[in-house]
Amino acid sequence: MRVLVTGGAGFIGSNFVRAVLGGRYPGFEPDELVVLDKFTYAGNRANLAPVAEDERLRVVRGDICDPAIVKQEMPGTDLVVHFAAESHVDRSIAGAAEFVQTNVVGTQTLLQGALEAEVGRFVHVSTDEVYGSIDEGSWPEDHPLAPNSPYAASKASSDLIARAFHITHGMHVSITRCSNNYGPYQYPEKVIPLFVTNLMDGHQVPLYGDGLNVRDWLHVDDHCAGIQLVARHGRPGEVYNIGGGTELTNRDLTTRLLEITGRDESAIRPVADRKAHDRRYSVDITKISAELGYRPQVGVEQGLRDTVAWYRDNRSWWEPLKAG
Ligand SMILES: NC(=O)c1ccc[n+]([C@@H]2O[C@H](COP(=O)([O-])OP(=O)(O)OC[C@H]3O[C@@H](n4cnc5c(N)ncnc54)[C@H](O)[C@@H]3O)[C@@H](O)[C@H]2O)c1
Repeated sequence: MRVLVTGGAGFIGSNFVRAVLGGRYPGFEPDELVVLDKFTYAGNRANLAPVAEDERLRVVRGDICDPAIVKQEMPGTDLVVHFAAESHVDRSIAGAAEFVQTNVVGTQTLLQGALEAEVGRFVHVSTDEVYGSIDEGSWPEDHPLAPNSPYAASKASSDLIARAFHITHGMHVSITRCSNNYGPYQYPEKVIPLFVTNLMDGHQVPLYGDGLNVRDWLHVDDHCAGIQLVARHGRPGEVYNIGGGTELTNRDLTTRLLEITGRDESAIRPVADRKAHDRRYSVDITKISAELGYRPQVGVEQGLRDTVAWYRDNRSWWEPLKAG
């Protein structure tokens, strides 16, 4: 089996590649795994260092929006797992062009390439942010899409294109929509690595608005395990939510990080809220649990402690990223 992983040098993609090549999913052992990555600011060779010597891995630097590179890499592929994206909401507020280009045009280019090469399966990795914000309850997969940020809108657009390739061409496309991920190798612009590294260095952490926005935290290992289940057993044309089952306000999250790093409330610096900041995300994971046996394994308490320990032990990974 040959697997093509786009965005495999980013946070979640590289966790997936390390897990697959590390033999974490018995029965899901490709003969060849190709990472196609543009190596934007978020892509990093160091993320693949633990598996760099694995003979099954081939890393291709290329843009998913480039039909020539996609045409070159698709033939012979059995499965595409599509992570590549511009992923940071704040950057999409500052400027949305790259988000539409990579997330929408890039996804369409990949789907077209996969169609022409008759690729067996295509997993499109998306986000719960496509649903908007929910005050109570949780979103099932058929909830209407109401994305609020340019990032979320670009992901919702790509979801619809992925769905359309299934409906129109009968392609075996599945879509996953996950909640907020955390864990090792996450670029230190995202809230958990930003806060952890700031706290370890004696700096303050910027807390948006009243700090009461709620997120469901999902350890990246659980997310990747869920993607692997969908890649193997997901039904064509279906959407699967993937969540961690732990909802925290940003203030709760910050308090836990203060406690783990031995800092106090004076390290919190309230800042003006993000524009159109979604109040609460909550995914219903009944479908993937019942159909594919998905269960998150990493409790948030242990997951946060392990994550803080990883950033403490891997300064050489994140210091250059923060400095740059
Ligand atoms: N991080 C989260 O909490 C989260 C939550 C929900 C969904 N997602 C989705 O999961 C996927 C992976 O997210 P992440 O956090 O690992 O992102 P990331 O920003 O850490 O990594 C993105 C990767 O894609 C690559 N890339 C960007 N543009 C590219 C292009 N045009 N061509 C080829 N490669 C390109 C980057 O170099 C990088 O390696 C994304 O699709 C994102 O929307 C992430």
